Amino acid sequence: MINIAMLGYGVVGSGVAELIFRNRDKFKDELNEELVLSKILVRNISKHIDNKNKELLTEDIDDIFKEKVDIIVEAMGGLDPSYEYVKRALNMKKHVVTANKDLIAEYGYELLQIAKKNGVTIHFEASVGGGIPILKSINECLVGNEIKSIKSILNGTTNFILSKMNHNGMSYTEALELAQKLGFAEANPESDVKGYDAARKLSILSTIAYNRRVDWKDINIEGITEIDEYDFKYAKMEKCSIKLMGISKLGSKHIYATVMPVMVKEDSVLGKIEDEYNAILVEGDAVGDVMFSGKGAGMFPTASAVFADIADIVKQKRKKCITFSSEKAEIDKSWGLKGKWFLRVKTQNRVKIIQGISSSFKSCYILSSTFSGNKEEVVAFVNADNEVCIDNYIEKVKSEGEACDVKKLLILH
Ligand code: NAP
Ligand code: HSE
Repeated sequence: MINIAMLGYGVVGSGVAELIFRNRDKFKDELNEELVLSKILVRNISKHIDNKNKELLTEDIDDIFKEKVDIIVEAMGGLDPSYEYVKRALNMKKHVVTANKDLIAEYGYELLQIAKKNGVTIHFEASVGGGIPILKSINECLVGNEIKSIKSILNGTTNFILSKMNHNGMSYTEALELAQKLGFAEANPESDVKGYDAARKLSILSTIAYNRRVDWKDINIEGITEIDEYDFKYAKMEKCSIKLMGISKLGSKHIYATVMPVMVKEDSVLGKIEDEYNAILVEGDAVGDVMFSGKGAGMFPTASAVFADIADIVKQKRKKCITFSSEKAEIDKSWGLKGKWFLRVKTQNRVKIIQGISSSFKSCYILSSTFSGNKEEVVAFVNADNEVCIDNYIEKVKSEGEACDVKKLLILH
């Protein structure tokens, strides 16, 4: 018998419980083992009074550790008290499975060390890409490759919001509310819309892919809160949609890493990813480009990844965990390649800005009128040698008082 206790019984936790019940006998023939869900920790038991599994629920963490438990599934989220509970579990020689990217991005290295010291494992497949088996694929199936780059859509909520704004005429607020109702968003959706969730996932992915610790706080992070309905119209002019992308790239010394909204060609593999789907395009030196896609958020897709980690522990297939390198990566914050950029400049001096763009960029296309009809705005597509050229231009017009705000979006093919 394999005893499993769970911390949290929300969107993810209830999906995991259901999969444990459904697959109770999955390992009976092969290993003569039955899966038993013995206890579930919640914050407020009265919320669950009508639940069919209410006899398994407790508000007292000590009840979890009292049980004879082999595996603890952490599906509470956040750092406090998840960090303390997971540490306690590992130190008590319990295997841990978690869907918590905040926890792994912040304390992954330390928790993996504690697990190793105690001869147990901590698995976190569901923390990146929801139901997509991406960590295992990079760690095992692509092990013969040097990973060169990752281009990814890693947040279901923001991809859902951008899709609904683009194709269904929903407002940002309506789309966010729907994403929350469907269980995709974080308890505090700022994490999603401001790009922190995607940055944490990109840091975990990149740490494994490049075997150097990428701290999520070193990543340039920009969310989707400034994207409005007109940006989609400008994107259409380039046959693009807008996606919140996490991009990382192996350089000779540094690792470039960023999370930002990007205009991406509608007919490209990433341009076609809609709603809560996530996608990760991995470039390996041997395999070339490999694309992974699937539902990045939601009850059962996430539970599917958590259950796969439970199954790995039961089968002891991965006696060792994924490891995080002790070497910290130096992060490059600027896109170093030649590229096309979209600029939307808020100004009271259109003529000066138009002259400035024409002289600053060898090749540019400046729109004669804007979709918003705003006379205090200049919209342009420019070609630049790298992101530094764009940032220098923005800094110059702002410092000289010519523009009060400039929006920039990379156009990705
Ligand atoms: P959720 O629906 O808000 O559920 C959280 C659960 O944890 C609730 O049952 C809550 O208890 C319990 N909880 C929270 N704080 C607690 C505390 N201090 N003590 C005891 N119980 C506590 O969250 P979720 O969407 O399932 O997300 C859980 C984790 O999975 C997060 O790390 C999230 O980032 C990650 N994740 C979520 C998704 C997704 O699609 N939702 C996908 C991948 C990963 P009550 O029920 O009593 O409030
Ligand atoms: N809030 C997250 C998202 C959940 O929308 O992608 C999955 O990690």
